[in-house]
Amino acid sequence: MCKILFRRISAADAPFLAAYGAACDGITDAAKLSRLSARFIRSVRSSCYMGVLAMAGRQPIGFQDGVVAGDTLELSEIYVHGRYRLRGVGLGLIRRILAIAKARGLKRAFLRTEPDNVAMRRLGRKAGFRREGLLYVREL
Ligand SMILES: CC(C)(COP(=O)(O)OP(=O)(O)OC[C@H]1O[C@@H](n2cnc3c(N)ncnc32)[C@H](O)[C@@H]1OP(=O)(O)O)[C@@H](O)C(=O)NCCC(=O)NCCS
Repeated sequence: MCKILFRRISAADAPFLAAYGAACDGITDAAKLSRLSARFIRSVRSSCYMGVLAMAGRQPIGFQDGVVAGDTLELSEIYVHGRYRLRGVGLGLIRRILAIAKARGLKRAFLRTEPDNVAMRRLGRKAGFRREGLLYVREL
């Protein structure tokens, strides 16, 4: 397997994000997929959007994104392609987006996850988040 690199998400990555969103929602219709892609382009261009992509060569294999509100980053979606899991890609994505948030002057980040999502809970703890009620919180 080739080296994994991380980079900021740009509007050009909308098809990959839309394909992920479509798969989650069971969308196969081309027109709906195209609307979803257009929505991602608008999101990515918004000043409150922040996102990082993991690349294996030229192939996107995962992403982490989030929304900035004041001095806080709310992490939204994280996904790593099944073939690349348990290799530190998820941790790399979170570390990279937190570094970007810190450089932008943000003070904290939080995420939500389902109580039964063992992988995400463990990944969150490994990335320095602590549980506060229903949230996982980390100072930057
Ligand atoms: C959650 C997810 C992003 C983790 O990505 P990943 O690249 O496999 O994670 P990493 O390899 O960086 O693992 C980080 C830590 O989490 C642990 N972990 C990851 N997946 C795990 C699993 N299925 N079970 C137990 N621990 C797991 C790793 O062991 C590692 O901890 P360790 O170093 O102490 O062993 C990935 O499983 C995924 O895309 N899941 C589907 C989408 C999802 O559930 N998103 C979260 C919604 S809130």
